Amino acid sequence: MKPLLLKGVRPYGEGEPIDLLIRDGVIASQNDLAQHGDNAEIIEGNGAIVLPGFVDLHTHLREPGREDTETIETGSRAAALGGYTAVFAMANTDPVADNAVIVEHVASRGREVGLVDVHPVGAVTVGLKGEKLAELGTMAKSKANVRVFSDDGLCVHDPLIMRRALEYSKSLNAVIAQHAEEPRLTIGAQAHEGENASRLGLQGWPAAAEESIVARDCILAKQVDARLHVCHVSTTGTADVLKWAKARGTKVSAEVTPHHLILTDDRLSTYDPVNKVNPPLRTQQDVDALRQALADGTIDCVATDHAPHAIQDKDCEWSAARPGMLGLQTALGIVVETMVRTGLLDWRGVARVMSERPAEIAGLTDQGRPIEVGEPANLVLVDPDATWTVNGAELASVSGNTPFEGMELPGAVTATILRGRVTALRQMIVDRRIAE
Ligand code: DOR
Ligand code: ZN
Repeated sequence: MKPLLLKGVRPYGEGEPIDLLIRDGVIASQNDLAQHGDNAEIIEGNGAIVLPGFVDLHTHLREPGREDTETIETGSRAAALGGYTAVFAMANTDPVADNAVIVEHVASRGREVGLVDVHPVGAVTVGLKGEKLAELGTMAKSKANVRVFSDDGLCVHDPLIMRRALEYSKSLNAVIAQHAEEPRLTIGAQAHEGENASRLGLQGWPAAAEESIVARDCILAKQVDARLHVCHVSTTGTADVLKWAKARGTKVSAEVTPHHLILTDDRLSTYDPVNKVNPPLRTQQDVDALRQALADGTIDCVATDHAPHAIQDKDCEWSAARPGMLGLQTALGIVVETMVRTGLLDWRGVARVMSERPAEIAGLTDQGRPIEVGEPANLVLVDPDATWTVNGAELASVSGNTPFEGMELPGAVTATILRGRVTALRQMIVDRRIAE
């Protein structure tokens, strides 16, 4: 592979632009740059910010089973275009990824596509039924090397099963990612329990259904000294519980989705199911609290919960629609809009919440690394001044269910690099190179 020269880029958006040479998949030294710079392929950075490639702990790739909505290939393409170099593929496929055969299939298909590292998440319980632990050890020891387990889409609601799962995961050096939703409190739930749901006549999904499970699981994780990860935190109260649990030394981490950082249940008045998601969109007070919690580290990272759905499952009446929205290609823009433009995070902070922390939580040693000589070249180039308009039909996903349709987003991914190989390149750069 030819060396790759990133010309005029600013690591973490700091300092003057520099030239960065990538050779044999790693960031090369100044010496190498002098020696091999001339015979390298060039990407003109034009002052673009370079960050470690993003890592998404929560992606629904829908393969196997729902290839009509997304495949490992289309989802990988969306991920690369969104600046991601690694994604964790959720287990709620059909069949469920609750055994070594399925997780190995997902991992190997991901490798074949080769656009992003695809790490399968293993189910916690057989068939996501919440009744019997899946064979976590077999999945961990399989070629897929599973280190994150989750029944996402559903909550591991039985406290005894959750405790056992935490105990096993500890011995496997893995983490249990919990979709926190007490099912007895969300029977028939359609929207955040509050004013909007009452006015629209939709059954409420109370904040307590999330908070009570997070509190319970933090207590269990502390008791067995295991690692818990809380998926898609959506309420002020959950952030409070996390703060408390972290203060007493619980090994808990948490993620927030881009959509919960910007959208509120005011969106519901149109009855457009593109806004239906689980957990539901909450209130402006929650949005503000989540931004604050992400800024101060109470919430560790951003994860997309990228959830493609078929037209017939979204373009229907609210109660029949499936919950979920696309996220991979819009995540950075939403983070820039809500966290960078507001002064809550600088670019180092973006690297922390979109790359470093998620890589650490999942135990990846080759992602979320510092931009330094000898480190693997898993990188993303971001033009902070570019804006673009979201068009669901143009996104790489098979499905088009984005709630950000028509929105102008700041910050564009101009290139994504996986172990020194360019996996996404924005037309703009290609044009510039041709123009020169
Ligand atoms: O909105 C959601 N969609 N939340 C989940 O937990 C699951 C996901 C899906 O699989 O569509
Ligand atoms: Zn979930």
